[in-house]
Amino acid sequence: MGHSTKCATPEELESLKPFATENERRCLDALIANGSLRKAAAAIGKNEGSFNSAIRTVRARAVVQHGWRPEAWGRVGWKTLAAGAPAPSVAPQAPGHGQSPRSAAQPASKPARAPERPHVASRSFRDFPQPADFDRPMRVFIIPDVHVPNHHEQAWNTCLAALHAWRPDRVVILGDFVDDACVSSHAKRPDRSRLLSEEIDANNVELDRVQAAGCEYVDFLEGNHCDRLARYMAEKAPELYGLVSMPELLRINERGWRWHPYKTSIKIGKVVMTHDVGFAGKNAAWQNLAATGKSVITGHTHWATMVYQGHDDGTRHVSVTAGWLGDPEKAADYRPLDRARREWQHGFCTAEIDRDGVAWVNFRPIIDGRTIIDGRVIQGSCG
Ligand SMILES: [Fe+2]
Ligand SMILES: [Fe+2]
Repeated sequence: MGHSTKCATPEELESLKPFATENERRCLDALIANGSLRKAAAAIGKNEGSFNSAIRTVRARAVVQHGWRPEAWGRVGWKTLAAGAPAPSVAPQAPGHGQSPRSAAQPASKPARAPERPHVASRSFRDFPQPADFDRPMRVFIIPDVHVPNHHEQAWNTCLAALHAWRPDRVVILGDFVDDACVSSHAKRPDRSRLLSEEIDANNVELDRVQAAGCEYVDFLEGNHCDRLARYMAEKAPELYGLVSMPELLRINERGWRWHPYKTSIKIGKVVMTHDVGFAGKNAAWQNLAATGKSVITGHTHWATMVYQGHDDGTRHVSVTAGWLGDPEKAADYRPLDRARREWQHGFCTAEIDRDGVAWVNFRPIIDGRTIIDGRVIQGSCG
């Protein structure tokens, strides 16, 4: 983001405070006092990514929970408001005295008008490179289910260190990057409950770290966990569908990345990559291969498996389920802990794809916190 980024007017920022958490209120105060995102983030010792996320999240909460529908913000984003956009057209309905933003969460009042469209990426995407663009095998780094903020700190740090070291041409985030536990339909443990804003903040911090690895071309595939917010909205407040979306909260468009909704896939060379094709468990790799009839890499199962299938015509397909990077102690409320420890494997994938689109895929296990790539031991910190 540019250093001269303009922000919303002080009055508009002030009007968000009744809906803000303590952290978000600090960010709003800092923005009002400092006038620019960069200065404000520095003033309270936050990085720009998590600061920006806090402002976006409180805005989203105000819209979703309280029917606050500022015309200009809905269309152009908060950073351009100071350029003379009109003030909010709907007065915020503040929570009652003594209510926290969370306890004030009520069935949302009807927005002033129906949303025009979901807040998804609107600008045209750059063309992402394909294997035929290279005179050497193209390098693709594949990140399986991380389940932030319930990720395994050391395994994730090791994966990030490997990402920095391997220097891929493209990165594919294979789904379930976001855990979205707070909007899950599963029973939630009270001692682990979080606000959605906290989960989004944590995710943006980790996505900033992916971005810091310097690969320009990142595909973000949505998994069933990332899709929980859309399902929650559809079930609890269908009238508000489209006002808040995961790609906007995660700033996918702003990062210059590509967003792929759940149950869609991408193809690089001759390899299909998707979160899942409807199968789970230890046999999913074979089932995926049979269902697609193509080389395929999926997440979702958290198992690490790789199988090959040849054909009479000489073609050969590979099917991979790419493990995971979550913490079984935190991310597996829906799975017996011992089973998660036995069956699910930390790791990630690399694929080298030649000009014909044929892929040489490696699953890179993380064992005892470390992995080995090209003879080099890579070990992330414990936290
Ligand atoms: Fe999944
Ligand atoms: Fe998952």
